[in-house]
Amino acid sequence: MFDLIIIGGGPAGYVAAERAGHKDLSVLLFEKNMMGGVCLNEGCIPTKTLLYSAKTYENALHADKYGVFAENVHFDFEKIVARKNKIVRKLVAGVNSKMQQNNVTVIKGEAIIEKRTAESIEIQCNNEKYFGKNLLICTGSQAFVPQIEGLNEAGDTVLTNREILNLKQQPQSLVIIGGGVIGMEFASFYNSIGTEVTVIEMLPEILGNNDSEISAMLRDIYSKKGINFHLNAKVVRIDGNKVLFEKADAIECVEGEKILISVGRRAATDGFGLENIGVELFKGGIKVDEKMRTNVENVFAAGDVTGFSLLAHTASREGEVVVNNLTGKEDFMHYEAIPSVVYTNPEVAAVGQTEETAKENGIEYEVKKLPLAYSGRFVAENEGGAGLCKVLTNKRGEIIGVHIIGNPASEIIFGTCMAIEQKLTLSQWQKVVFPHPTVAEIIKETIFL
Ligand code: NAI
Repeated sequence: MFDLIIIGGGPAGYVAAERAGHKDLSVLLFEKNMMGGVCLNEGCIPTKTLLYSAKTYENALHADKYGVFAENVHFDFEKIVARKNKIVRKLVAGVNSKMQQNNVTVIKGEAIIEKRTAESIEIQCNNEKYFGKNLLICTGSQAFVPQIEGLNEAGDTVLTNREILNLKQQPQSLVIIGGGVIGMEFASFYNSIGTEVTVIEMLPEILGNNDSEISAMLRDIYSKKGINFHLNAKVVRIDGNKVLFEKADAIECVEGEKILISVGRRAATDGFGLENIGVELFKGGIKVDEKMRTNVENVFAAGDVTGFSLLAHTASREGEVVVNNLTGKEDFMHYEAIPSVVYTNPEVAAVGQTEETAKENGIEYEVKKLPLAYSGRFVAENEGGAGLCKVLTNKRGEIIGVHIIGNPASEIIFGTCMAIEQKLTLSQWQKVVFPHPTVAEIIKETIFL
């Protein structure tokens, strides 16, 4: 009998396994594919690897701005993809070795939840039975593919985030359905390497969950780089390589060598026996409380399978909350200070309330904002680049939201997460000394406005 059985080896499952093993729980983890889950194998890591190649190429193309001259700048698509595969293999091996170091038993196979008794939860995998005192479900999510007429007939012209990562050749043109995070990261990559990119978005703006001023800035930057955007546009049919969409009561059509569907992801709750122990769902994901407990005793869920914050770092933290509670340290999950990043070039990073959500939630707020050009380091390294930092505070002067567009927003946002998590006020933050010169100083400049 194991102390903890985990189904799924993504950022929720493998982090929970590592932490639990470290605390001397006996842990068994089932994974049907590769350790690392979507994040490591077909999400965060492979896309960041591709995007770094694209950024290196763009930097070389525009190096003359910095007094550096490179001749015959070109790229090799196959090598870019091969490098991505090498990085993924290396990191998957790293996760496997962490499992070993923490005495986690890993079984490759598809686990099915069979039943729960007063003493244990029974799991079946590869025709063997396994028993655990506790079960943590981390089965993740999968790309949502909507019912669009003609989609099934379009064959391998239509891709999700999984297939697009393994293209053998660069498509000359790409139509992206859905201007969310996945859509914009692939738009950025393919635009950088010269593919003709069109983004079709149903809502009035791309990156719907982000601050709309910043999303509009990003769209403007990419429009200038040559991406065609169609907003308020609803796809109605796919006809081979053609995508037909309705915009302002007219039907328009764009054509692409490939078509990427990136209209959201759905929690993976089917096919592994949740119903056998009566686990309750809510809005398509597993219903959990703030300790990540499901309605069934000793059964927990973490990560995308809960269906509401589909981010790797949320998943890992949720896994930690489960392990802390199992090992005698009371812990609660909260979501006010979860950062999000869009790894376009420039990057967009955000945490907390946007102006839109503050209004929706009836929060009185104040906004301070400053162009990133007020940071000396930003100007030195991002010549001519656009950037903006926005800080939202509530009536008590506490920081409730921070939104940054400009490089390297992804690396500087975490400090502001701490401010929100700790409910720091502007005057408390103003005492913090930032290293100079850094782009992060823009936050300090903004909060002094
Ligand atoms: P998303 O929810 O971010 O964006 C989907 C977009 O598609 C929305 O803007 C939506 O309005 C639009 N849409 C939906 N149906 C449409 C239709 N029929 N026609 C045109 N537009 C349509 O979902 P996405 O980009 O697929 O990403 C999935 C999840 O993965 C997200 O929750 C995201 O947070 C996560 N993710 C996070 C990343 C990061 O942290 N950097 C990177 C990639 C994914």
